[in-house]
Amino acid sequence: MIGEEERRAVDAVLQGHVLTHGSRVREFEAAFARYTGAPHAVATASCTAAMQLAYMHLGIGPGDEVIVPAQTHVGTAHAVELCGAGCLFADSEPLTGNIDLDQVEALVSDRTRALAVVHYLGVPVDMDRVMDIAERHRLFVVEDCALALGATYQRAHVGLRGDVGCFSFYPVKHITTAEGGMLITRHADLAERVASLRAFGIDRHDPERRDTPGEYDVALLGANFRMNEMGAALGVEQMKRLPEFLKRRRENYEVLRDGLAGIEQLEFLDPAAGDYQQSHYCLVVLLRDSIYRRRPEIIKQLGDRGIGTSIYYPKPVPHMSYYRGKYGISESDLPVASRISLRSLALPVGPHLNVDDMHYMVNNVAEVLRRLE
Ligand SMILES: Cc1ncc(COP(=O)(O)O)c(C=O)c1O
Repeated sequence: MIGEEERRAVDAVLQGHVLTHGSRVREFEAAFARYTGAPHAVATASCTAAMQLAYMHLGIGPGDEVIVPAQTHVGTAHAVELCGAGCLFADSEPLTGNIDLDQVEALVSDRTRALAVVHYLGVPVDMDRVMDIAERHRLFVVEDCALALGATYQRAHVGLRGDVGCFSFYPVKHITTAEGGMLITRHADLAERVASLRAFGIDRHDPERRDTPGEYDVALLGANFRMNEMGAALGVEQMKRLPEFLKRRRENYEVLRDGLAGIEQLEFLDPAAGDYQQSHYCLVVLLRDSIYRRRPEIIKQLGDRGIGTSIYYPKPVPHMSYYRGKYGISESDLPVASRISLRSLALPVGPHLNVDDMHYMVNNVAEVLRRLE
C-alpha cells in the first residue's frame, strides 16, 4: 500500500539535505501522538528497539526478570534478553491467545521488575487486570502493540495504560515505514530519556553546546535506534490513510470470519465481547485434530491458488532453540501456546484486499480442506 503520496514524500527527503535527525521524524511523532491520544511519542528503529529502550530506561540487567507471554514474536523476549535480564514465560489464554493473567501472579518474585503484555493479533489484553497486578507487585508495564495499531481498550488507544506502548511499522503491519517503531507513553521524563537513549545518550539540551556544531556530551549509555527521515516521511503519509486501512481490514475480517464459520475442520479464537475494539490484523483459524498435521500441505495448496498465509507464531518463544537451550521449558508447560502454534493458520485481511478476495479465500479454503479427505 505504497502510493504516489508516499513516493513523493520519500523523494522530497532525498532531494533535500536532511536524511536523519530531521523534521519528518518529529512530524510523524506528532501525527502518531494525535491519532493515539498519547501525550508523548518517540519514533525508533523498530518495535523491538522501542521495547529495549524502555528496559534500558528502567535500568534492568543481569539478575532482573521480566514476565513475557510465550505466544509472541521473539522480539518481545529478545528486548529483555538484550539488556542482560531474563524472561519468565506465561502461557496463553485459549479464547484470545493473550497472556494468561492467572499465571502471571504465580511467576512474580523479588527479581521481577516488569510485565510485558502483547495484544495478540490486535485483540487487547485485559488491561484493568494487568494494571492491578502491576500495582500490587510494583511492576513496570510494557504493552507490545506491534499488531494493535487502531485497537482501543475502554475507548482509549492501546499502549497508554501501561508505562509504555510499543508499535511496529515493519511492512506487513497496519502502516509501514519499511522498518520502524514508535514508543508512546504518559510519562514526560521517560519519553525524554528514551529519546536520548535512542541516539547514543547524547545530551543536546546543554545550552552551552547546543549552538556549536559538533559539540555534545554523552550523559547516558544509549544505542543507535533512530528512525530515519525516509521512513518517517512514509509514516506521515501512511498515517493519513490509516482510518481507511482500518475500515477495509474490519470489513474484510467480518466477511472472511462469517464465510469460514461453517467449515467444520476449523476452530476460531473467540474473544468475548467487551469495551474494546480490535485492530483486525489478520484472521487466525485453528485446524482441528483431523487435519492440523497436514498444515504444510494446506499452506502449499493455498499458495498455489494465490492465497498467502502466515503463522502467528511458528513456535512459542521458549521453544525456539536459543530459549529452549537457556530455559529448558517443555511443550507440556505451555499447552495453550503450543496448541496455537501447532494448529494456527493466519489469513490476510489487509487493505490491499477487498470483499471479493475474501469470498475467493472462503471458497478456496473450503475446497482445499474438502479435498484433503
Ligand atoms: C508482537 C510482536 N512484537 C514485536 C515484533 C517485532 O517488531 P519489529 O520488527 O518492528 O521489531 C513483532 C513483529 O512481527 C510482533 O508481532
